Amino acid sequence: MKDAITVSVTGAAGQIGYALLFRIASGAMFGPDQPVKLRLIEIEPGMAALEGVIMELEDCAFPLLQGVHGTSDLEDGFTGTNWSLLVGSVPRKDGMERNDLLGINGKIFTGQGQAIAKAAASNVRTLVVGNPCNTNALIAMSNAAGVPAEQFFAMTRLDENRAKSQLAAKAGVHSSDVTNLCIWGNHSATQYPDFTNARIKGQLVSEVISDQAWLQGEFISTVQKRGAAIIKARGLSSAASAANAVVDTVVSLSNETPAGDWHSVAVASSGAYGIEPGLMASMPIRTEADGSWSVVEGVPVDEFSQGKIDATINELREEREAVKHLIPA
Ligand code: NAD
Ligand code: LMR
Repeated sequence: MKDAITVSVTGAAGQIGYALLFRIASGAMFGPDQPVKLRLIEIEPGMAALEGVIMELEDCAFPLLQGVHGTSDLEDGFTGTNWSLLVGSVPRKDGMERNDLLGINGKIFTGQGQAIAKAAASNVRTLVVGNPCNTNALIAMSNAAGVPAEQFFAMTRLDENRAKSQLAAKAGVHSSDVTNLCIWGNHSATQYPDFTNARIKGQLVSEVISDQAWLQGEFISTVQKRGAAIIKARGLSSAASAANAVVDTVVSLSNETPAGDWHSVAVASSGAYGIEPGLMASMPIRTEADGSWSVVEGVPVDEFSQGKIDATINELREEREAVKHLIPA
């Protein structure tokens, strides 16, 4: 039996938590022979609901689950953790943009970054889901003194999955036939789902879908506004699809990326593609068999794409400016 992987999840009694924990415990995230331990973090008002969730986890008798611990203490929650999944925060309501949440949610990530630095395992990887996730990840990373920047991520995989589904539906193929789909920039209404490099059954999208107006217009805006469309329809923000994207992100960051393909996640820029160093920006990422990752180099960026990337990177700069009081110098 392998040693257990410890996973900390904040906001564990929330909507995404409820759709995520059972997938982790069942083996969907780390595989069918990898035991896991869960450390679940909630604020005090959420602790009673969390107790109920823990009872349900126990009642599943998952073979791979080696322990569940619930707490409202951050250092306790991140003790020895290998993966911290930062979900806990307030979701937006109909009519809001995600960065309207910065004032409410941004400050949550200072204490979480500090607690991760103090208590987590040295190899801890942190994935921020709580919105606006790119800038919240920047805050967590900046407050986690001593934890390497390359161990912080923000989630744009839900956008990648959405984009693949839209392209597949338009082309009349299955979403698994769509590869090389990169989301650039911010998980927001400025994000750029890059159809120019995406492939369908190995062919460039533009060779399969001739409707350029749709690709440059409706396709992009549907992906950019999908979160808002779900909130309007459900009265609540996406949860099961978000939890599924968390699983996909961790799987993709833990296993070798298929040759020639890439996956989308926001990482701290080191200047690739002219993106300002330090900003947490989504870009094309490749993972090796040992779990190390790198930015895929040489992905063509045409004039149309560059304009879209510039807009989303500008928004990330503005968000960083708005939270500069939360980022230690
Ligand atoms: P929710 O309100 O159902 O649950 C959030 C939970 O977090 C609650 O149980 C709450 O008590 C807890 N919480 C709040 N502050 C906390 C803190 N400081 N520490 C620990 N727990 C805390 O919300 P949800 O639907 O699960 O969404 C959670 C977040 O994920 C939101 O910010 C939402 O916008 C975001 N989200 C991101 C993506 C993405 O693709 N990046 C997708 C969907 C949702
Ligand atoms: C999403 O993309 O569904 C989430 O970020 C929730 C939201 O506010 O749109």
